This record gives sequence, C-alpha cells and structure tokens, in this order.
Amino acid sequence: PRSIYLSRHGESQYNVLQKLGGDSLLSPHGMQYAKALPALIKDNIGDAQLTVWTSTLRRTIQTAEFLDYTKLTWKSLDELDAGVCDGMTYEEIEQAYPDDFANRDEDKFNYRYRGGESYRDVVIRLEPVIMELERQENILIIGHQAILRCLYAYFHHLTQEDLPYVKIPLHTVIKLTPRAYGCDEERYALPI
Ligand code: F6P
Repeated sequence: PRSIYLSRHGESQYNVLQKLGGDSLLSPHGMQYAKALPALIKDNIGDAQLTVWTSTLRRTIQTAEFLDYTKLTWKSLDELDAGVCDGMTYEEIEQAYPDDFANRDEDKFNYRYRGGESYRDVVIRLEPVIMELERQENILIIGHQAILRCLYAYFHHLTQEDLPYVKIPLHTVIKLTPRAYGCDEERYALPI
C-alpha cells in the first residue's frame, strides 16, 4: 500500500529563540537531524526511492541536504504566514496585540494574522499539493508545523477544531498509510 512520509525541518535558529516564521537556518541540533536523516530513513523504510518535497524556506531545504533523492520545492508548503507577527515570540505578540492573541485562542482554525494567514487559508492553499500527493507514491515531505498539521488532519480526517493542535514533534518521521477506513501510522524519532 501507498505511504506518505512527513517530517518537520530540523530545529531552526528561530525555534531556539521561540520566534515564529522567518527564514532562519538550522541550529546545531537541527543540523544533527539533517545528517542523521538518511540513516533514519534507510533503517526504517529501506532502500525504496523516495521523492522529497520541501518548502522554499531554507530550514526545510537544509534538512533535505544529505538525502540522495529527487527533490522538489513547493511555495505552497511554506509555513503559515504570521503577517505582522512574523519573527515575534508568543510573549511579544501577547504584549503588542492582546486582542488578537485572545481571538486566536478562541478560534485557532479561523484566526487570520494581520497581513497573514489562518489555518483555513493554509488548508485551501494546500489543495493542489494534496491533489498531487494523492497521485504520487513514496513522497517524503519536509515541512513546517502548521503545514504538517493540515496534511496530517487531511489523512486522519480530523476536525477543523482539532487540526491546529495536532502535535507534530521535531526530529521525527511520521509514516501515514491510508486505508479504506482511517489511516495507519508509524513514527521514527531521533533522540536529539
Ligand atoms: O514555532 C514554529 C512554528 O512553525 C512557527 O513558525 C509557526 O507560526 C508556528 O509553529 C505554528 O504553530 P501555532 O499555530 O501553534 O502557533
């Protein structure tokens, strides 16, 4: 049966600083993940030829750097655009935009950042990616937290309410195998 592999990029410099968005490079831990990823995949998935899809952001491309597969970058896989809050921490957002911060908590799926996107917007922009994903085999997506939540929720048929809270840990490959009913899942984590 057909499987889809999902991984977040390795820990980025912005992840360490707890800043949203941006286009930072990987942290030393993130680089360790990038270097370990080829073996993590070989050990768990074997020698199958994968095709790697990344976003256009440097942290996903850097994570894919050591993988010896065909690679494709998709602008549609870029992280949810936090608009005016891009580059800020949650604390800074709460200070600068307290009402927005509360509204997002109230309805995280529909909340749209000023000058940016909502999860609903991202689900719509991912439609072409999902269409292509349904036609392809052995795709590994190296993506971002919000993006992978949307893809994960699509295959697991999660509600809009649950989607923005799915836990997609760093340094973990998630294997999804769609079945007639539901979707099987395995996770391969690297303890770094
Ligand atoms: O913190 C990493 C990150 O990918 C941010 O770039 C992004 O804005 C955020 O996670 C998405 O998570 P949430 O929607 O829970 O804020």
